[in-house]
Amino acid sequence: MNAPVSSPDAAVRPGSEDVPALVVRGLTVRFAGLTALDGVDFTVRPGTLHAIIGPNGAGKSTCFNVLSGVYRAAAGSVRFGDAELTALPPHRIAALGVARTFQNLALSPHLSTADNLMLGRYRLTRTGVVAAGLRLPRARREERRHRARVEEIAEFVGIAAHLATPAGLLPYGVRKRVELARALCVEPRLLLLDEPVAGMNGAERQEMAATIRQVRAALGLSVVLVEHDMGMVARLADEVTVLDFGRRIAGGAPEQVRRDPAVVRAYLGGEA
Ligand SMILES: Nc1ncnc2c1ncn2[C@@H]1O[C@H](COP(=O)(O)OP(=O)(O)OP(=O)(O)O)[C@@H](O)[C@H]1O
Ligand SMILES: [Mg+2]
Repeated sequence: MNAPVSSPDAAVRPGSEDVPALVVRGLTVRFAGLTALDGVDFTVRPGTLHAIIGPNGAGKSTCFNVLSGVYRAAAGSVRFGDAELTALPPHRIAALGVARTFQNLALSPHLSTADNLMLGRYRLTRTGVVAAGLRLPRARREERRHRARVEEIAEFVGIAAHLATPAGLLPYGVRKRVELARALCVEPRLLLLDEPVAGMNGAERQEMAATIRQVRAALGLSVVLVEHDMGMVARLADEVTVLDFGRRIAGGAPEQVRRDPAVVRAYLGGEA
């Protein structure tokens, strides 16, 4: 079923057509005395954009950290097609086509944009480190293919002009785009975006929203988006899950969720 990801020329093709559902059930995460996620359920239907919203500390990033294998669940399950993600280490989850961006930028500041994106292609690289180090012909061919795909993705995300620039020298808004591009370099079937427009100005937000929409349309992947801006959520999301203190307090279409009394209460700190 995952053949397109590991087939010989998959490295230069967009993501696989067979995007499975992501089914989260009873997900519970504890940190010494604190229950960060408490029996959370939600389903991301194939090819849809699912937003996770909630006040600070609600458990949104924790949820991403479980989905990508960084944190272990205390209970519950996360199924992506036939795979149980809670049982897998991060690199195995990435190999299934699950890619993420981080709430706080996680680029290597001294590497060029192009090299940061090449790191994103790491899981698709078939040549061993030794062959690559010796610059054997096979390794050089493979590297050229990856570089070509990196340039394509950079073009698509609007950062082609910055490929040679060290990531640390780029303006913040561009770095957020490089993060998105790096996640796309994994050729994901499921893309996890943690606050992709945080800290951006109005125009940059609009542009990023348009890019996310294009990415979804062009690659047919599923997206899970953590976002505070309700306007952005309403424009982009097919479905929304609302967390508060680690619990799912509401879910459904954006307009329905926005009017939900439990959501209004959570956002107004219990005053409504
Ligand atoms: N590694 C950790 N160790 C201990 N506590 C943690 C850890 N990661 C998260 N938490 C706690 O779990 C809770 C949920 O945090 P999380 O980062 O998931 O919230 P969030 O919804 O992403 O918030 P924000 O909107 O501020 O990004 C918080 O109380 C946080 O302090
Ligand atoms: Mg967070």
